[in-house]
Amino acid sequence: MPLDGVKNIVLVLSGKGGVGKSSVTLQLALALSLQGKSVGILDIDLTGPSIPRLVGLEDAKITQSPGGWLPVPVHDAVTTQSDSASSSSASPQPRGSLRCMSLGFLLRDRGDAVIWRGPKKTAMIRQFLSDVSWGVTDYLLIDTPPGTSDEHIALAEQLLTLSTTDAAAAAQGNLPHLTGAVLVTTPQAVATSDVRKEANFCVKTSIPVLGVIENMAGYACPCCGEVSNLFSSGGGEVMAQQLSIPFLGRVPVDVKFGELVEGNMEAGSDDEDEYEDMTGQDKPAEALAEPDTRPLVEKYKEGWSYPRFEEFARTIIGGVQATTGAQQ
Ligand SMILES: Nc1ncnc2c1ncn2[C@@H]1O[C@H](COP(=O)(O)OP(=O)(O)OP(=O)(O)O)[C@@H](O)[C@H]1O
Ligand SMILES: [Mg+2]
Repeated sequence: MPLDGVKNIVLVLSGKGGVGKSSVTLQLALALSLQGKSVGILDIDLTGPSIPRLVGLEDAKITQSPGGWLPVPVHDAVTTQSDSASSSSASPQPRGSLRCMSLGFLLRDRGDAVIWRGPKKTAMIRQFLSDVSWGVTDYLLIDTPPGTSDEHIALAEQLLTLSTTDAAAAAQGNLPHLTGAVLVTTPQAVATSDVRKEANFCVKTSIPVLGVIENMAGYACPCCGEVSNLFSSGGGEVMAQQLSIPFLGRVPVDVKFGELVEGNMEAGSDDEDEYEDMTGQDKPAEALAEPDTRPLVEKYKEGWSYPRFEEFARTIIGGVQATTGAQQ
């Protein structure tokens, strides 16, 4: 059965490009995993899939199993204290696994532009939703392209046939629970008016809105995390109030998070050799420091953005527990 084993589905939407949907999807996924949940990310941005880059796995390949495509593992679960003791890179607290699936893994060359007409896009989205063997997954987060395009309509139609927004019916019928959508905006009025369209889209498709996240609201100091430059924040909250939808909170620009995901891209580069070639000298001590090989999730946990996303993850989990009565 498609989506077999998936318990909850959360969409990440925004009317505008570049507001941080993919970053929010990834951070929510990491935070849910750190709450002990097994998480999957499905990147259905067919023209600009960015999840492989953000998780530093651009060269990963999808494998087939009898049950369908196998998602690419980002990190494994850590279930017990003894698990964590056995690996120096593991978290001291239980954490769930994270796996992801993206068209980016299927493209031969990452630079390949995919220009597809509507029917082919629709078919690809159907295939992504039905042919991936997720296994037991507490939360499947779906990263979407900007706007309310063909992809969104195909996604909503398909999701509403494969899952249900009714938590009780989901539990009874052993179907995934279409928990709802997180709407991402930036503080600027233009972006928020675009996200209104996304809220309307949810109303029309009867997908519940879990809440609004206002991304890039202010700037977090890389040294102390203090948030400044708040002159341009608040738009998302006002919009949420006007639309009577929950406001999940603000996320400032976090340069360290940017470096963390950009750093992922450079993993495996041979900068060290280049340094010596260019200067003819030994590298300074700092540059010679051992590379940090811990999984992304462990490094993320130390950043300024994690406490915010931890709260968002708890809010989502709390909402699910309240509607299902289950420990999901
Ligand atoms: N809060 C943040 N702090 C620092 N950098 C951020 C933050 N949010 C997003 N970014 C950076 O901004 C860029 C755009 O973000 P992202 O790719 O998540 O946007 P998107 O809405 O998914 O874009 P697209 O519409 O192209 O899919 C990325 O390089 C990302 O790392
Ligand atoms: Mg994106």
